[in-house]
Amino acid sequence: MKSSNAAAENFPVSRNVARMKMSSTLKAGQTAGLLRERGFDVIDLTLGEPDFPTPEFIKEYAWEGLQKGLTKYTPTAGLKTFQESIVEFYAKEFGAHFSPQQIVATDGGKQALFNACCTLLNPGDEVLIPQPYWVTFPEIVKFCGATSVFIETETSDFILTAEQVQDSITDKTKLLIINSPNNPTGRVIHKNELIKIVEICAERNVYVLTDECYLFFAYPPSEVFTSASLPEDLRRFVCVAGSFSKTYAMTGWRIGYTIANEEWTGQMTKLQSHSTSHPTSFVQYACARAMENHAASKAAVNLMLAEYKRRKDWLIPALQQTRNFKCQMPEGAFYAFVDVREMLGEQFKTSADVAELLLNEAHTVVTDGEGFGADGFLRISYATSLENLQTAVERIRKVFETTIKEAV
Ligand SMILES: Cc1ncc(COP(=O)(O)O)c(C=O)c1O
Repeated sequence: MKSSNAAAENFPVSRNVARMKMSSTLKAGQTAGLLRERGFDVIDLTLGEPDFPTPEFIKEYAWEGLQKGLTKYTPTAGLKTFQESIVEFYAKEFGAHFSPQQIVATDGGKQALFNACCTLLNPGDEVLIPQPYWVTFPEIVKFCGATSVFIETETSDFILTAEQVQDSITDKTKLLIINSPNNPTGRVIHKNELIKIVEICAERNVYVLTDECYLFFAYPPSEVFTSASLPEDLRRFVCVAGSFSKTYAMTGWRIGYTIANEEWTGQMTKLQSHSTSHPTSFVQYACARAMENHAASKAAVNLMLAEYKRRKDWLIPALQQTRNFKCQMPEGAFYAFVDVREMLGEQFKTSADVAELLLNEAHTVVTDGEGFGADGFLRISYATSLENLQTAVERIRKVFETTIKEAV
């Protein structure tokens, strides 16, 4: 009889999954955990999640939901109150108008993205993805058997332009995936450019999936624009993927949503009815109540935003003054995107080598850019305390002073 290991080695993984890679951001975080277990004082700057607790009032609403007996199945697309609360919140906050029938409650932003791609893409379809990109986008595209076509954005300061989109569309292009504010670059596509981008796509019958999970974290907040507030003739080509994970520090609660035209929404609901059914009932209730309590949710977000801004305003100049590092001031999200290409050569071949040096010598874990299609860059998360950031920068500088050969 074969050993169970042999069976595992021979596991006939499906073609769709075999094409995918494990998430590199999650892997980097695991490395930090392993080092910590071995007793090292590790500073983890890989985190893609807020270090704040979920606001108390949202926890209380979840408890209220439990007490009300919301422990059973809900409709697949979500509780009516959940859908209505999103509609009202977007109307109040952004002047956006759509109907509750255009919403599907999902298990986080990731499922929103999966639902949108899996209901639209076929093998042979091309999907435009601005590069650098969030690691998961090309993996979902691969899962669907479609082909990612990357649009290099370094020439436009890492902000996608309408012209780049225009030049990249072919007869095979089915979808453009955008993410603004952006992970990993921290860049924001401004309103007029975003409208132009969607107009160009709509003219060519190309759909647009906009990942807006960092929507509420822009500096200043007035810079953000949600595609949910586009006019109806453009919005019918758009699916907004939203998430509560970052906005309200609720990563573990697993809740997000899509806003799309009713047909697309119907197909996503059908797909979800055979996968997760819906996100947890009392979590939907808590989010609905939180959205209804507009003032409290805004206050919670503003507190976090102010703290991210305080950290960013210290961290970015400090990184800019660190030998070998180049980085711009982010306009949104909570990441510094650091160019280390000047260091590459004999001693360090890739940015992964630099990340490894920082791990081994500074006990500071950062995410290498390779998984984001950004070899030569590091992503440094400031979803951690200012004290941690200060210690990390001090350690990094010390390592650079003692380890790097002058010739670099
Ligand atoms: C750009 C982007 N989109 C989506 C997600 C997924 O968030 P969640 O599934 O927790 O809502 C993340 C998480 O890191 C992200 O950075």
